[in-house]
Amino acid sequence: QNEKDSQFIVSNWAKDHYQKLLHESEEGESIGLSYLMQRGLNQTTIKTFELGYSLDQWDDLLKAAQKQGFEAKYLEKTGLTIVREDDPNRRYDRFRGRVMFPIHNVSGRVIGFGARTLKANDKTAKYLNSPESDIYHKSDVLYGLFQARQAIRSEEVCYLVEGYLDVLSLHQGGIKNVVASSGTSLTESQIRLIGRYTDNVTVLYDGDAAGIRASLRGIDMLLEGALNVRVVLFPDGDDPDSYIRKVGDQRFKDYLEKNSQDFISFKTRLVSQEAAHDPVKKAEAIRDVLQSIAKVPDPIKRQVFLQQTSTTFGIDEQVLITEYNKLVKKDS
Ligand code: CTP
Ligand code: MN
Ligand code: MN
Ligand code: MN
Ligand code: MN
Repeated sequence: QNEKDSQFIVSNWAKDHYQKLLHESEEGESIGLSYLMQRGLNQTTIKTFELGYSLDQWDDLLKAAQKQGFEAKYLEKTGLTIVREDDPNRRYDRFRGRVMFPIHNVSGRVIGFGARTLKANDKTAKYLNSPESDIYHKSDVLYGLFQARQAIRSEEVCYLVEGYLDVLSLHQGGIKNVVASSGTSLTESQIRLIGRYTDNVTVLYDGDAAGIRASLRGIDMLLEGALNVRVVLFPDGDDPDSYIRKVGDQRFKDYLEKNSQDFISFKTRLVSQEAAHDPVKKAEAIRDVLQSIAKVPDPIKRQVFLQQTSTTFGIDEQVLITEYNKLVKKDS
C-alpha cells in the first residue's frame, strides 16, 4: 500500500465521519443540517454531494482517527490536522464547527475538503480548504465535476460558477452540468479538464465587481484553451445560488437563455456603457476585444470574430484587421 492510497483512505474515512456527524449527532443536526436546509438544500442534494459537519471541538476527528488506528502522519499530510506551534508533538483538527464539502476527483474519490463557517461574525475565513497534498492539487480540480460529467456530455455545455453553494443549488434545480473553480482563478489544467467533456463553457460568475473581473480573466483563458465561451451576468449582489433561490428553477433557466451572450458582446457591452460617445474609450474597447480574439487558436473562428467585431462597432473590417495585425505583432 503506497503513500497516495493511504491518503485516499483517510480522506474517505474523514468524509464518512463528517457525514455521520451531520445526520446523526445532536450538534450536526441542529447546527449543520439546519443551516443547509435554511439555504434551501434538500436531503437528496446533501447526500449526492456527501456533505458533512465537523464538530466544534479541537480534536474530535483526531481522536476518532486514533481509535481507528490511522497513523497521525496521514492526517497531517491530507491537512485534516495541524501541528501545534508550541508543541510539535501535538496536533489539532483543522476543520471545526463547519459544514464540510468533500472535493472529489473525476473518479469520485475524496481528495480534499472545503469547509464553511456557520458563525455570523467569524474572525477566520468564511471558507477553509484542504492544503495541497499528494492527492489534492487544487489547480487541477473542479468542484462538482464528478457529479456533473455525464450532464456536461449530454447537454454539450459546462456551466462554470464560483462557489460550492452555486453548484449545489443549480444541480438541485435541475441544472446538473455545473462545476466551480472554488475560489482560485481558473487554471489551464482546469480548462483542459473541461475540454475532455465539452467545447462549450458558459461562465456564471457573481454579479459583483470581483465576479466581472474574474469573468474577463476567465474568458481569455478559455479562449486560449480553444473553448467556445458565453457569459451570463447576474444582477449586482446576486450569485447563481442566491438568484435561483430568488426566482425559482424555471425563471432561472429562462434567465440563462435570455441573458447568455458571446464574449464579444459581453466585452462590448461592458465597455460601451461609458465608451459610447467617447472615441478614445471606444478605441480602447475595440483593442481590448481584439486582444481576446488573438487568444483564439482557430484561424477560421478568429476571422468570424473579427467580422462580428467590425459589425458590432461599425468599423470597417480592413481597418480592424490592420489594427489586429499590429497588436499581434507587438505582443510577439
Ligand atoms: N472561497 C474560498 N475562501 C474564502 C472565500 C471564498 O475558498 N475565504 C471560495 C469558495 O469556494 C466559495 C467561492 O470562493 O464557494 C466563492 O466565494 P463567495 O462568493 O464569497 O462565497 P459563496 O460561494 O457565495 O458562499 P456563500 O453563499 O455561502 O456566502
Ligand atoms: Mn498539480
Ligand atoms: Mn463573490
Ligand atoms: Mn453565495
Ligand atoms: Mn458567491
